[in-house]
Order: sequence, then C-alpha cells, then structure tokens
Amino acid sequence: MLRLPALFELPILLNQSPASMAAWENLPSDFFRIVYSRRRKGVLRRRQIIETATIDGRVEDGRDEVVRWRRHLHRNPELSFQEEETSRFVYETLESFGGLQLSRPTPTSVMARLFGEEPGRTVALRADMDALPIEEENDFEFASRNPGVMHACGHDGHTAMLLGAAKILAGMREEIKGEVRFLFQHAEEQPPGGAGEMVEAGVMEGVDAVIGIHLSSYLPVGKIGIGYGPRGAAADTFEIVVKGKGGHASRPQKVVDTVAVAAQVVTNLQHAVSRNTDPLDSTVLSVTRIAGGTTHNVIPETVEMEGTVRTLQEEAREKVAGTMERIIGGVTAAHGASYEFEYRRGYRPVVNDEGVTRVVEGTAREVFGEAAVEYLPPAMGGEDFSAFQREAPGSFFSVGAGNEEKGITYPHHHPRFTIDEGALLTGMKMFVCATFGLLDGGKEAGP
Ligand code: NI
Repeated sequence: MLRLPALFELPILLNQSPASMAAWENLPSDFFRIVYSRRRKGVLRRRQIIETATIDGRVEDGRDEVVRWRRHLHRNPELSFQEEETSRFVYETLESFGGLQLSRPTPTSVMARLFGEEPGRTVALRADMDALPIEEENDFEFASRNPGVMHACGHDGHTAMLLGAAKILAGMREEIKGEVRFLFQHAEEQPPGGAGEMVEAGVMEGVDAVIGIHLSSYLPVGKIGIGYGPRGAAADTFEIVVKGKGGHASRPQKVVDTVAVAAQVVTNLQHAVSRNTDPLDSTVLSVTRIAGGTTHNVIPETVEMEGTVRTLQEEAREKVAGTMERIIGGVTAAHGASYEFEYRRGYRPVVNDEGVTRVVEGTAREVFGEAAVEYLPPAMGGEDFSAFQREAPGSFFSVGAGNEEKGITYPHHHPRFTIDEGALLTGMKMFVCATFGLLDGGKEAGP
C-alpha cells in the first residue's frame, strides 16, 4: 500500500525544525535500510522520508505568503469568465517561482507544468479562481473593493493554496518522478463552466490522476472531508412547451386544451423518477414553473413549463432525459397536442475514483491523524470539477475552514462568508503530500 511511510515509521520527524531536518538529510541511505529492513519487507525509500518531513517545514515557511496571496485575491474578486487581474496575478506569481512551464489554456485560466527529473506519472491539481455577484458584508481590512463582487465560496483560498503548493513542489523538482500539472481554473460558478473549456484546450492530456479541494465552512478547521463515489449532483434544467389549439373555453370539443394536457404532463413526469429510476439512485425531478393563458374564458394555444433534474449517477442522468421525452410525447399525443422539449445539461455529477480517493484519505490520516478524517455524504449541489474527472480518475475533497470560536460559521455564498486561514496550510499540505502519493503510488491509484 502506498503511504508516506515516514509518518508511520518516524513520527518524531513531524515536529522537527528545518535545521534538524538537514541532519536527517545527511544520513546515508543505508541508515534507513538497516533500521527498517527488519520491520518492512523490502527497502524503505529514504527519498520519501525526506520529502514528507521537508514538506512540513516548507509549508510552515510559506504560511505568511499564502495568507497574503489569499487576502490579495479576496480584496480583488472577479466574476466568472472575467478573471483577468486574478489570472494575471496567478501567472506572474507562478513565473516568480521559476522552473514551471506556463500557459494560458483560455483567456482567464492558467496552467503550470512541472517536469520532474525522471519520467513517471502525471498528476493534476486544480483550483478554481472566480468570485460571486454578492455584496460583501465583512469589514476586514482586505474586504472586497469591487462593489457587488465577493469571494464568498473560498475560491480565493483555493487559488492561494495551490500557488503555495506549486512553490513547494517547484522547489523539490529533483524529488519528482513524473509531472505535476497545476490547473488554475476560471468560471466554476457559471455554467457552462471553465473546467470543460480547459479540458477542450487539452489540459488533461496524459493526466493519470486529478485532485481538487474545496474549503468548507461547514467543516471545522483541521478536518478533511472525504467521500467515495458520488459527491455532487448533476444539475440539469428543462423547458417544455405544450402546444394545442386555443379557443373558447365553453366549446372544449373545438380546442386542444393545453392546460389540461400540461397538468397530465406534470403528473406523469413524476413517474420518470418513482417508476423508472432505481430507488437507490438519488434523482430529483421538479417542475418549478408553469405558465399559460390570460383569462377565464380562453383556452391558451400553449403552456410553458420549466424545472430541474438532479442526479448523482451518470447512468441515471442519461436515462431520465429519455424517459421524460417519452412521457411528454406520449401524453401530448394521447390528447392530440404536440410539444417542444429542451433538456439542458448542467455540470456532470462529481464521482470520486476509489483508488485516487484512497490515496487522498491515506495522506490525510498520516499527515493529520486518524481523527482529522470525516466521511461526507454526497450533496445535491453541482461542481464542474466533474469535467476533469471525466478525463482521468479523480478525487474532490473538502478541507475544513470553519471555526465557531472565531465566529467563522457563515454558509458559502453568504455576504459574511469567510474562512479560517489555518485551512490554507492544511490544504497546501494535502496538495503536496497527496501529489507525492499519487506520483509514487500509481499501482493503487491508477485505473
Ligand atoms: Ni465553490
């Protein structure tokens, strides 16, 4: 099983200062072989011991800088597809690290590639960078200075954490076998979303595993929220127009009554879930708007409806659109009406790969201890991280950023949302340590 063995074998290392770490680094590799060959079959990889312990020191060293980046981003939020200053800041900051191959896959996204000394697997790390159309009500010194725009979901933290991870990893190039790809994504909050555009631009070519972090004010700082399988829903929308023949309400034999047919359509659509979907697949179908007619004595020519479909499984999603069309077609035909039906796909469901998630969970347990890990149930919200997961096995997980004592309890997308900045270090360490896990642990993590 891949792990970061040092943390099992040498817990004492975790609390070493960078200076005493240098002493460890100078030990001959034979030292480790001698010490551990009796406890483990095979040879403990000294390289990994050094990496794991070194990371701790580097994360600590990066604390102030990452907090500064996060505050800069928080003060200067930009809406989806408009992340011009943000992406420029990210690009320039990455450039200052040296050793990264930078590009702009789309006008407001940034990709950085870090090639290790030896060939190996490719691991992609993703952060989203966009803010929301919300007027901030926090009175921090670094509160948003863009009226009506706010980082109210923690994407400022995601971006800062990934910059921090990129800096640490760029400084450890000789330890990297393979490639690490940093994806700074635009427009997560606004379908059709930036992830799909980046995929189309080729950012996932050759990627073996992808991970993404969402900070969460619902989870206390220090906790890591893990989930296997479905994590978030596909949030699709639909529009239906029932077309009949309008006329006088007193002469029903001369009309095709769209109101009566529309009512049948709404009722029968409930069967798309209750009678056509596996009860163990979570699916929601809601008709949320119905509009037709103008007055009491006129049968309208058309009735319009719209609504949403939420699914956790891609198969359930594929099926529900087809079932809906069959029901709408059948019901309208039965009554001599016709229809228009448009099913618009939102983001795909986020479904976590088991192997990659196991590496993430193992990393969290070893780096932060057993008590840090929480299993999270799926949520019915949408996330376009799923676009990356379609190209490579991936895992999307949460890093706790809530803190009741400090009053950091507001939900995401709230004008007073914020994060405990301690979470930035947790996230940075998770990005870095999981990367080594995924690069080295290909056999367990890969497809
Ligand atoms: Ni978000």
